[in-house]
Amino acid sequence: MKKVAVIGIGHVGSTVAYTLVSRRVCDELVLLDENEALAIAEMHDLKTGQVGHGGDVTITANDESQLSDCDLIIFSAGDISILQHSSDRFAELAYTKQVAAQWGPKIKAANFKGILLSITNPCDVITQYLQKLTGLPQARVLGTGTTLDTARMQNAVADALQIAPNAVTGYVLGEHGNSQFVAWSSVQVASQALTKQFTPEQLAQFETDARQGAWAVISGKGYTSFGIANQAAICANAILQNTHEILPVSNYDQQAGCYLGHPAMVGSDGILKDYQLQLTASETELMTTSIKKIKDMYATI
Ligand code: 2OP
Repeated sequence: MKKVAVIGIGHVGSTVAYTLVSRRVCDELVLLDENEALAIAEMHDLKTGQVGHGGDVTITANDESQLSDCDLIIFSAGDISILQHSSDRFAELAYTKQVAAQWGPKIKAANFKGILLSITNPCDVITQYLQKLTGLPQARVLGTGTTLDTARMQNAVADALQIAPNAVTGYVLGEHGNSQFVAWSSVQVASQALTKQFTPEQLAQFETDARQGAWAVISGKGYTSFGIANQAAICANAILQNTHEILPVSNYDQQAGCYLGHPAMVGSDGILKDYQLQLTASETELMTTSIKKIKDMYATI
């Protein structure tokens, strides 16, 4: 029996919850939000929403005592509306560090022994802060990181080549934010480097599509939800089913001394192994810049 709690049931948390239920990623789902009426409402809606297809995920709301025996906690508390007025996820930190400071000690007090997956922005900084607040081992705390940005890059390349996004392999690395970069040296289609198939200008446009992908959505609907929920569900499934998938999640990089998006093997114990890519000189420079941005943001907490 796999039990998951989602903390923060706004646009993102509720879509994550629906994705987990509709893909039957877990057996039990606990919804927690400081707005109790909202969590209860989403519980009722989700219970109705699963009737007729499975319909057997046990869903409860607002019972913090349930945290103790969860296999996975997904932290998605935040205020994405802040990004309607800012082009940097750092703008969310003043609010989200307070929410993390409320929940981190509760997770610790619950004696939680599972895996913590954080979505809340700025993703790398809040993931690191939650690791500190909960005292969980670094390997048991991860963030969705650049999984979402990598998916946006895959879509941009796939659209240009008229191929399936999954046929594009490789990674966006670094901050889930403006200092992220596509490690083009890692990106391939049918084992062929993209640097041979596109001009530098075309590659730069794909990179912009990935970096600005959130705002292409936020400018129209005010928030993003489906893309991140898909990536959170993929991470949750890798953890709960111990799939050993390699995903560019935010995980602690010993060399960098901070959390950042880079590929790691994900399973029931969280991060099983991380991978250091052989980057080019210019990619290494971009990585250094991204690490500095993450550390500078963390230093403001
Ligand atoms: C996203 O990239 C806003 O971080 C969120 O969709």
